[in-house]
Amino acid sequence: MREDPNTLKRTHTCGELRPEHEGQRVVLMGWVHRRRDLGPLTFIDLRDREGLTQIVFNQERQPDAHARAKQLRSEYVIAVSGQVVRRTPETVNPKIATGDVEVLADDVIILNPSKTPPIPIAETGQAPPAEELRLKYRYLDLRRTRMQRNLRLRHRVALTIRQYMDAHGFLEIETPMLIKSTPEGARDFIVPSRLHRGKFYALPQSPQLFKQLLMISGLDKYFQIVRCFRDEDLRADRQPEFTQLDIEMTFPTPDDIFALIEPLMQQLCALVDARVERPFPRLTYAEAMERYGTDKPDVRFGLELIDLTEHFKRSAFQPFVRWIERGGTVKAITVPRGARYSRKQLDELTEFARRHGAEGLTWIKVHEGEVKSPLRKALGESQMETIFRAAKADADDLALIIGGRRDDVLSSLGALRLEIARREQLIDTSRFAFVWIVDFPMFEWDRDEERWNAMHHPFTSPRDEDLDKLETDPAAVRAKAYDLVLNGVEIGGGSIRIHRRDVQQRVFNVIGLSEDAARQKFGFLLEALEYGTPPHGGIALGFDRLVMLLLGEPSIREVIAFPKTANATDLMIDSPSEVSEEQLRELGLQIIPSDS
Ligand code: AMO
Repeated sequence: MREDPNTLKRTHTCGELRPEHEGQRVVLMGWVHRRRDLGPLTFIDLRDREGLTQIVFNQERQPDAHARAKQLRSEYVIAVSGQVVRRTPETVNPKIATGDVEVLADDVIILNPSKTPPIPIAETGQAPPAEELRLKYRYLDLRRTRMQRNLRLRHRVALTIRQYMDAHGFLEIETPMLIKSTPEGARDFIVPSRLHRGKFYALPQSPQLFKQLLMISGLDKYFQIVRCFRDEDLRADRQPEFTQLDIEMTFPTPDDIFALIEPLMQQLCALVDARVERPFPRLTYAEAMERYGTDKPDVRFGLELIDLTEHFKRSAFQPFVRWIERGGTVKAITVPRGARYSRKQLDELTEFARRHGAEGLTWIKVHEGEVKSPLRKALGESQMETIFRAAKADADDLALIIGGRRDDVLSSLGALRLEIARREQLIDTSRFAFVWIVDFPMFEWDRDEERWNAMHHPFTSPRDEDLDKLETDPAAVRAKAYDLVLNGVEIGGGSIRIHRRDVQQRVFNVIGLSEDAARQKFGFLLEALEYGTPPHGGIALGFDRLVMLLLGEPSIREVIAFPKTANATDLMIDSPSEVSEEQLRELGLQIIPSDS
């Protein structure tokens, strides 16, 4: 007799059956992953979140079920009842957890058919489908094993964090989503208010000010796994809405923050069976820039930048001499055995360096015993040799040299360093290399706007010994700020905060925020600072980035269930989208066409 689909109950998941279930009658429900017809036998791989189970339909024993199995197509949702049998040794499938057994079906019910999916769900061994298609049909994309694995780990990371933070005395406290602009350096997403026509909320770029207020409230240790919103240009590791592990505590030193975060990172790495050593190395901002050309160095490989300014200062190579006279720099990286690079490869690298801010790229190499370089004429043999040695280069190596404005030299050579490491496969991708970057400058000069900006955010405390330089020499003021970098990706940033109103106002002044403007924007904070604000500090970690790196994924889109595309759209729900005239009227808004 056929089972009644309304009373049929799932007894096991598709990842559960083992030899010890042999002989049991079971009911499995899930999706048809694959179907194979072998004449009198039809095989279905049945899939649910927990795995795959092989179902066998035997024409001889269960002709009805076998006939129905012929109707099954990929992604049909079915219920199967049958008996667990052991597979014969030669048919055991060691690749799947249930591979020792199969279910001999005596009935199958189609719970829902499926159109042919526009993207393959089962691994095909072919190139993955185009990302646009994946995002448009994200609910199907998420059926794929890789995505299920990613979301599962994301969940475990969140769970581990919550347990860890709780064990260390931190309370998870929610902060509002409809707020007033918090400056983290990006644009705000704003939300019009219906009740207050012409006024707007802003979505938080981070809970920065609220977590500081919680410290003023005496909540002592706060954390939150929280959504943040930033309207900025997107990249592989940026989304307009993303998640932070946000942390704040009272009376901390930076070392307290490091001592909290490092074991947590160890635990999270252990989730993917990776071991990391503590303490994590620390680099000052100045040292990171000098040695790696970036404040988020990938320290899994060498290829450090070597300064050649002194050597070129007195050289006859005029373009570099002129840069040095104007305060510029000359630096190099040395590619081991790079002398074999062809002209074409060197041209490509030059183009690459230009795209990253360099004016040009020059080189010296020793190939088959002979020193070669475009600088040969200007430098002469012996100077060329000296510089080659100064670049720590040896026979068959290639020194790539860039001169120019310091910022441009650092950014282009920093990028080139990564590019060479990729080409030469110098990166051990199984490693997790954490590094703290400390002693950031408090301010950076905005060349376009010709003013000082806070490098982290304006609530970061200057170092006490630099306080007296705030007004006289902002460039020399260092901040009590730190970043956490993993494999060349900035996964976190934080600081000890300003807890005194006068210092806060002085920092606002440096970034051009007058007392009036400051009161208007952050009056609540300035006022709160006058009611017994304890010293406090914290950090925020990019939760999506962390999960991405733990999984070795190339983009945070791979670890977010429903991400936006690189131009901030959601292809599945078609967002952003227009709203009705009526909604606009209610909000008192009018759309001005962009070409007017
Ligand atoms: P910050 O702006 O450095 O600091 O942000 C902290 C971390 O959040 C991650 N992150 C992002 N991840 C994905 N998409 C984005 N658009 C994005 N922007 C940032 C990064 C970054 O290191 N309130 C301060 C923290 C503090 O001072 O405690 C803040 O938000 O991994």
